[in-house]
Amino acid sequence: MTPTTEFTTRVIIEPFKIRSVEPIRITTRAERTRALAEASYNPFRLRAADVLIDLLTDSGTGAMSARQWAEMIASDESYAGARSYYRFEEVVQGITGFRHVIPVHQGRAAEHILMSALVRPGDVVPNNTHFDTTRAHVEHAGAEARDLPIPEARQPATLHPFKGNMDVGALEALVSEVGRDRIPFIMVTITNNSGGGQPVSLANLKAASAVARANRIPFFIDACRFAENAWFIHTREPGNSGRTPRQIAREMFDLADGCTMSAKKDGIANIGGFLALNDDDLAAQCRNLGILTEGFPTYGGMAGYDLEAIAQGLTEVLEPDYLNYRVRSIAYLGEKLVAGGVPIVQPTGGHAVYLDAGAMLPHIPALQYPGWSLNNALYLAGGVRGVEIGSVMFGRRPDGSERPPDLELVRLAFPRRVYTQSHVDYLAEVLLYVHQTRGDLRGYRIVSEPPLLRHFTAALEPLVAG
Ligand code: F0G
Repeated sequence: MTPTTEFTTRVIIEPFKIRSVEPIRITTRAERTRALAEASYNPFRLRAADVLIDLLTDSGTGAMSARQWAEMIASDESYAGARSYYRFEEVVQGITGFRHVIPVHQGRAAEHILMSALVRPGDVVPNNTHFDTTRAHVEHAGAEARDLPIPEARQPATLHPFKGNMDVGALEALVSEVGRDRIPFIMVTITNNSGGGQPVSLANLKAASAVARANRIPFFIDACRFAENAWFIHTREPGNSGRTPRQIAREMFDLADGCTMSAKKDGIANIGGFLALNDDDLAAQCRNLGILTEGFPTYGGMAGYDLEAIAQGLTEVLEPDYLNYRVRSIAYLGEKLVAGGVPIVQPTGGHAVYLDAGAMLPHIPALQYPGWSLNNALYLAGGVRGVEIGSVMFGRRPDGSERPPDLELVRLAFPRRVYTQSHVDYLAEVLLYVHQTRGDLRGYRIVSEPPLLRHFTAALEPLVAG
């Protein structure tokens, strides 16, 4: 080895130092047993202070950088025309290329505005997979939300580099079936959160965009995790390893007419979002709608300091070292689980590991909520909080009946820049322990539930004590 040879380690380190810390309170199993009972066996009802590793969501939970805090201190809080808005606009335009940038307080506000402007009763909106709020907004507008993922997306154990892809054949069939006049826009969610945080390839985005353009249907991107998606393209799609995440992101956005964005994800901010688009008339309409619910178009429901945090976060999120660490830390947990025989959605996605509770707990019937049982077991064993994505979340149908969805999953979503490798090692130990003792787990029963979105507040009870 000559002195000039670069030595490369196998371990990928967190590309940051920590200079402001938040203590984790270590609890005992007895304390957690009590806390979970007091929360009516619903982890949403736990106090966060009673959680050791909180993987409930990657939304708004990231750690901001010293530079973000510095820009926040220097923000302009003017009601109209604040400097902070123009910086935000410039950064968003620089990344996406879209002409109009409309700030909103979070992603669903952008969805609300876009849907109010474009969706009419009887319409059909295709998406690779709608996120819950996106689906709810489509349905609220009286339209049908149609998920068109590729078939592999529904097979947890099947490996595919771009499992978030849209089934473009099915999209074409839908356009011929319902006609372009009833499709207000086509949307692709990157990465596909509901499908496991799985990426969408550039080739697939191009194909979906081509269908949209050929039929003169607007094409939108749900861009919450656009940087993670760009990194997967960089590492997995032939011809892209020499291109930066920023260049790839730009190519993705160039295929679309606009995007909705929750800056709580790849904006690495605690709150915020935007709607960005090219069409002048639609932008004018959306700005006016935004004034009703969000505020004046240069702040959109955010403080000037939120605009600064996002502008800086969007810049940092595209750094290759950050994305490499980010995607690697999720894959690292996934590898340990697969090696230990724990069934997970494969390959791991950009922001979360999804445990296949249905495969892990075949002795618990779907309507005794295996995902719920697994998530609660993780909390009891190690203070880990994930979220059930299964029969409690989706089992109650609009007609009042109860029918399980295809998959019983538990999502472990990673806040950005918050946990270190030893936290992940701890997580793996907890998960492997719960897997080894899975035969002891029992189902749950719902004691009371609200009429809608029951998982957030329902009270449950274990079917057998313990
Ligand atoms: N689209 C996707 C793909 C999302 O994942 C989310 C939020 C939204 C839109 C809505 O954004 O929360 O800022 O209004 N996902 C969070 C999650 C809540 O935990 O996955 P929001």
